[in-house]
Amino acid sequence: MLDPSADEIRDWGNSVIQFMADYLGGLRDRGVYRHTSSREIRSGLDATLPTNPIEFDGLLKVFRETIVPFSRQNAHPRMFGYVQSPGTPLAAFADLLASTLNANLTVWRSAPAPVELERLTIDWIRQILGFNAEAGGLFVSGGSMANLIGIAMARQTKGCSSGRLRIYASSETHFSIEKAAALLGIGRENVCHVAVDERFRIRMDDLVAKIGADLEAGYVPFCVVANAGTVNTGAVDPLAEIREIAHRFQLWMHVDGSYGAFAVLADSARKLFAGMEQADSVALDPHKWLYLPVDVGCVIYRDPEAARAAFAHEAEYTRMFGEEADEAFVCWDYGPELSRRFRALKVWMLLKGVGLDRLSEAIESNLACARHLESMVRASDDFEMAAPVELSIFCFRYVPGRLRNESPKAIDAFNERLLVALQRDGSSYLSNATLGGRFALRGCVLNYRTTLRDMEILLDDLRRVASGNTARWAAAG
Ligand SMILES: Cc1ncc(COP(=O)(O)O)c(C=O)c1O
Repeated sequence: MLDPSADEIRDWGNSVIQFMADYLGGLRDRGVYRHTSSREIRSGLDATLPTNPIEFDGLLKVFRETIVPFSRQNAHPRMFGYVQSPGTPLAAFADLLASTLNANLTVWRSAPAPVELERLTIDWIRQILGFNAEAGGLFVSGGSMANLIGIAMARQTKGCSSGRLRIYASSETHFSIEKAAALLGIGRENVCHVAVDERFRIRMDDLVAKIGADLEAGYVPFCVVANAGTVNTGAVDPLAEIREIAHRFQLWMHVDGSYGAFAVLADSARKLFAGMEQADSVALDPHKWLYLPVDVGCVIYRDPEAARAAFAHEAEYTRMFGEEADEAFVCWDYGPELSRRFRALKVWMLLKGVGLDRLSEAIESNLACARHLESMVRASDDFEMAAPVELSIFCFRYVPGRLRNESPKAIDAFNERLLVALQRDGSSYLSNATLGGRFALRGCVLNYRTTLRDMEILLDDLRRVASGNTARWAAAG
């Protein structure tokens, strides 16, 4: 099993590919989610520490019978929860090939062609964002890591050693920014939450007021984080205006585009992102809106030297001998990781194998699905929108006639129950958001398989699940 023969590899491969084809072919007939328990899953897993091997077929059987049914089916066209990409077979093959080669992208000489491929695909992403030719970047585990890198570069470049550093970001900003501030010793409490407008975008007057008040109080403002698609509602902050404020107060401008930045590829959304190309750094996730399987996040920065200043580290055991320029490229000088998997292969295969035209079309179709849901909700008499649709995220509530005169608290409690019941039902999957203190059902279209019809099925599923449970919920009080 440790070192199988070529024939064994072929046999295993055939079984795996057979599974993959059947699984993806039958996705629509599966539920998105099956309610389960830790005990039920454990009952399908042999807990004894293995000493003797079992056959590959036995391993695949456990995967097929215990792992797959008790996983959320993230590739399902009605998986609308969180910010979840579906993955794609091309990338699954790329991951298989990357692990087969087992390249470790530490420096150019350790993985010459893989590092070149990473630099090439990073440059393609730079072009997608419209950054200048000198800009650089790196693939990382995800948006949280990309945000951490952006904030670390900001502190290195703009932060001075004395005084309390301050970061500004809207109250809708993802928690990974606060986490980065905590990890970098800046402190969560030094991330200032700026108020948002009725579309959940940062309010520029409040941003300027907060910076001014901090300067007067002796703090050191050094970074502003702009959202290119918030996690709750998909709001895109006014990026060009934020750039102007960053200039005025000499702040580093980091854009969190982990969810939304690839929507710059869609004609109908492009104008929202004007100014993103002027940022100092951008976090964006190919494992979100490029449909790739986890993990592949990306950070793009205007000045690679700023990344080097934050991350370069000399050690005798990593010293480089006799190499120059391109061939002396040291990946660990630009980010926190040393060992790095070959993430670029799946990005390259996707971009090259599918092409930007088809990807832009898929993103445009996701936007159209969210807009379709919004117009159906606005035309209905039993749903209401909780936020305007900006990209492919939609937040709404179910408020049938009998609930119309109830308190907001009662309506929220009903929707919370409805969300849990919908998830257990399995036909469609939503998550939730809290907006202005109110509970909202929240969905995000991030799958090239999702159609306008799926949005209609989602509303029908909610109505069906609600009517099947209302009497029980009423009895339970
Ligand atoms: C806006 C935003 N930023 C950052 C993140 C974190 O990304 P990751 O899960 O890849 O670390 C997310 C995740 O959903 C996000 O939506």
